[in-house]
Amino acid sequence: MMDLVQPEKLPQWITGIPDPIYPEIPQLQPKLLDITLIDELTPFLDPYRYKIAYGGRGSSKSWGIARMLIARAYAKREKILCCRELQGSIEESVHALLEDQISRMGLTSAFEIQAKKITCLTTGSVFLFEGIHHNVTKIKSMEGVTLVWAEEAEKISKTSWDTLTPTIRAEDSEIWISFNPDDDLDETWLRFVEDPPPRTYSVSINFHQNPWFPEVLREEMMTCKRKSYDDYEHIWLGKPRRAMKGAYYSELMSDVWAEGRALNLPYDDTMPVITSWDLGWADSTVIWFAQVSLSEIRIINCIEFKGTSLPGMVKTLKEMPYQYSQHILPHDVAIHELGSGKSRKEVLSGLGIQATIAPKSVSVIDGIYAVKSFLPRCYFDKTKCEYGLKALKRYRTKYNEDRKVFDNKPFHDWTSDFADAFRYLAITPHETGFSKWGSAIDYGTGSKHI
Ligand SMILES: Nc1ncnc2c1ncn2[C@@H]1O[C@H](COP(=O)(O)OP(=O)(O)OP(=O)(O)O)[C@@H](O)[C@H]1O
Ligand SMILES: [Mg+2]
Repeated sequence: MMDLVQPEKLPQWITGIPDPIYPEIPQLQPKLLDITLIDELTPFLDPYRYKIAYGGRGSSKSWGIARMLIARAYAKREKILCCRELQGSIEESVHALLEDQISRMGLTSAFEIQAKKITCLTTGSVFLFEGIHHNVTKIKSMEGVTLVWAEEAEKISKTSWDTLTPTIRAEDSEIWISFNPDDDLDETWLRFVEDPPPRTYSVSINFHQNPWFPEVLREEMMTCKRKSYDDYEHIWLGKPRRAMKGAYYSELMSDVWAEGRALNLPYDDTMPVITSWDLGWADSTVIWFAQVSLSEIRIINCIEFKGTSLPGMVKTLKEMPYQYSQHILPHDVAIHELGSGKSRKEVLSGLGIQATIAPKSVSVIDGIYAVKSFLPRCYFDKTKCEYGLKALKRYRTKYNEDRKVFDNKPFHDWTSDFADAFRYLAITPHETGFSKWGSAIDYGTGSKHI
């Protein structure tokens, strides 16, 4: 453990004397700070572009980082953006934590706590608080941020990281990240733990390393360990969930990443595109876009529509740059609907889409086996298919705790539409020859059936 009694071990910026803004007020003069820290976090005091602390609950990530940032704001003028994926209100941010730590460090008189920001009176440093997801434009236009603290970063999406990181471009600016790993397909895990960028310091810490681990948390931890060792490893030891209990494709999806089959996969205009749909009634409709060759299946896009009409979806498809050969739909689209008297297949046909109906004879469970042998040949565009990839990884059956068996059917949740549409793609013979938009599918020469 390191504490402030050994100032010679600290870098200049902490022990150095900042220019006082109010030289006449004695309580605003620089003083030695108490930023007691565990050893694993002290490299955060050295210069790195990315500083990452991840691990289980109660490992002193938030307190440690808050203290170091406060010390830094007090020693030198900094513009610090504290962000997370979603921030409905300031209460959901680290504002209160920083306020508490400022007081514990005896710096109350040096900081002004405002409703939406915190300012250091001696250096003019400022802490700002934002949710990235709903503030992309605001974040992009932020000037002069020198430090970022991304807290609960396991929830930050690829799009948000892609927005944030190029925005932080001040000389020697740094991005500090703290998180409790959730899933090994989360962007934050992949980007910063599995494949860290240059100039990164990254450390995994757990409650064992926290000498101040509170008794109340220890009790919770012990109870969790007794009830479910899997949950204990995940929540308290920071192990990302890999093989989720009952998840059909979890291992195969881990292979997709491990084997580099999730990558940037542009549209190849020498090959037609096959779409595969799952048409939700009230909820969402998912469409996968695939290019199929002899050796591989390239999944180039995956779109989820919510509350969009059939004509709206067809319009989107027509606006894409793709040449289509086939549109695969589930068999229930052929059923005539009460009211209109038309089936959705007929409505689609009127819109220029001749549907290929996925074979009804293949049961859901057989279809799942078909996907299992289909997946090892698949390559995915990792950006356009971000949600589809997650859905396939998490699609699962439920474990019946009473009977100690898995249900013999999939659990219906947000992953189902993605997984169903993907299953139709796996079980339906593919048309790989170009066909004109709207013309009937010809299964003659040029087609490859699997
Ligand atoms: N430097 C410190 N000095 C005194 N107590 C500390 C210090 N760091 C952490 N603690 C104690 O350990 C507890 C857990 O720390 P903290 O909240 O920082 O953990 P965390 O890793 O962020 O946990 P979570 O994953 O749950 O967010 C704190 O509530 C506090 O009681
Ligand atoms: Mg925390």
